[in-house]
Amino acid sequence: MAKNFYITTPIYYPNDVPHVGHAYTTIAADVISRWNKIKGYKVFFLTGTDDHGKKILQAAEKVKKTPKKFTDELVPKFKDAWEKLNVEYDRFIRTTDKDHERIVKEVLKKVYDKGDIYKGEYEGYYCTGCEAYYTEKDLIDNCCPIHKTKIEKLKEESYFFKLSKYQKDLLKLYTENSEFISPNKRKREVVNRVKEGLKDLSISRTSFDWGIKLPFDDKHIAYVWFDALLNYYSATREKGKEKFWPADVHIIGKDILWFHAVYWPAMLLSAGIKLPKKIFAHGWWTFDKEKISKSRGKVINVDKLISIAGVDSARYFLLRATPFGDDGDFSEQALIDRHNNELANKLGNLVSRVAGLIEKFGVEKCSNKLIKNLNEKKIEKLFDSYKFDKVLNEIFGFVDVCNEYVQKNEIWKTNDKKKLFELKEANLKIAELLWPFIPESADKIKKQFSAKKIKKGEILFKKI
Ligand code: MSP
Repeated sequence: MAKNFYITTPIYYPNDVPHVGHAYTTIAADVISRWNKIKGYKVFFLTGTDDHGKKILQAAEKVKKTPKKFTDELVPKFKDAWEKLNVEYDRFIRTTDKDHERIVKEVLKKVYDKGDIYKGEYEGYYCTGCEAYYTEKDLIDNCCPIHKTKIEKLKEESYFFKLSKYQKDLLKLYTENSEFISPNKRKREVVNRVKEGLKDLSISRTSFDWGIKLPFDDKHIAYVWFDALLNYYSATREKGKEKFWPADVHIIGKDILWFHAVYWPAMLLSAGIKLPKKIFAHGWWTFDKEKISKSRGKVINVDKLISIAGVDSARYFLLRATPFGDDGDFSEQALIDRHNNELANKLGNLVSRVAGLIEKFGVEKCSNKLIKNLNEKKIEKLFDSYKFDKVLNEIFGFVDVCNEYVQKNEIWKTNDKKKLFELKEANLKIAELLWPFIPESADKIKKQFSAKKIKKGEILFKKI
């Protein structure tokens, strides 16, 4: 029986169209999903939107729309972006989906019945941009440390989740399950903060009503993160999907690690639900060395991203340019350079040269020595530890070897059909390994070299 693999992206706030940062997480998850499909796993890949909360409500009010209508209009932009980027997800969940709302209520009830929720009063700071609580010492000049905007002071009746009760369990989890938070350098930050102590978490609001009502007090709506995190679980309560829980990995950005590594497992522990196996937090992209920001025009939307050098080049660049887990800087020129130097000059050149030679001279089956230059075991290991830049390095190292093979052996003079057979197989292997990253081009290469009559064909990557 095929093994199951369940992977998720964060659910994005549908308050604007998706940009390169959102695309990055989603593409990375798609690459991992496709890789696991190659390995023979049955994959469930979840993405979606985080529709509730004050941030969305305010964005909707600004344009005089109801939050439902506002999000209904933005959700298609996300679906459209993922389709254009060839992201093959299995479900697009919205926190306004009825099945999700039901599960959130069920879990809240469980946690309440367990005695882990109590009523009190919240007094403190809240950043709507982050949808997060802050203490006085977190603030910089009375402003949110992330958004640098003036921060709200809240005082309202609220239900609290006994997060503090789970401090020991969480620390035990991080020790016993050393890969629960990855990469390692991010784990240390979380562990140190948890060691400092955890305060109970305010999990309900009364001052607005765009959210899921608490099952035990309908004057309150659930805190947007309590609601949102549960999407990962509720998507697996559908018939036939239960087998996918617990998730194999939640792919997220480093900005939301705390919510995923602390609140989320504590909530699940309280509700008696199995924990996900891994939280992987990737780094952040800047744009021309500046923080991505719409107001300052430092933003690349998905359509723009694709228009620079095409879908596959965008996907390739994002995973090739920086180690997954580290921060990176996005620039159009850097993308174009990779497109020209690596995809067009190396890969495109190999494909068209070899196909052209085979078209002229044909192939003759033989034992393949060329393919031994490819270290598949190493690639598999790198892939499974999400070292995508290194995976691509290995594959492109082999592309170089193949190009040299043609050159050194002067195949256009020798017409060596056996060597052309080796090169044909090599191209097929390269296409297979590159498929998670550049699915459209990889499919073309596969098709080209599996044809009865191999032809030179069109140029794969036109130079820019
Ligand atoms: N709605 C929450 C997530 C809830 S998950 C239960 C949220 N949404 S978001 O729209 O702000 O998207 C956050 C995610 O987008 C980040 O975690 C990260 O994955 C991605 N990125 C947004 N901007 C980014 C960069 N500049 N660089 C890299 N990734 C970025 O938080």
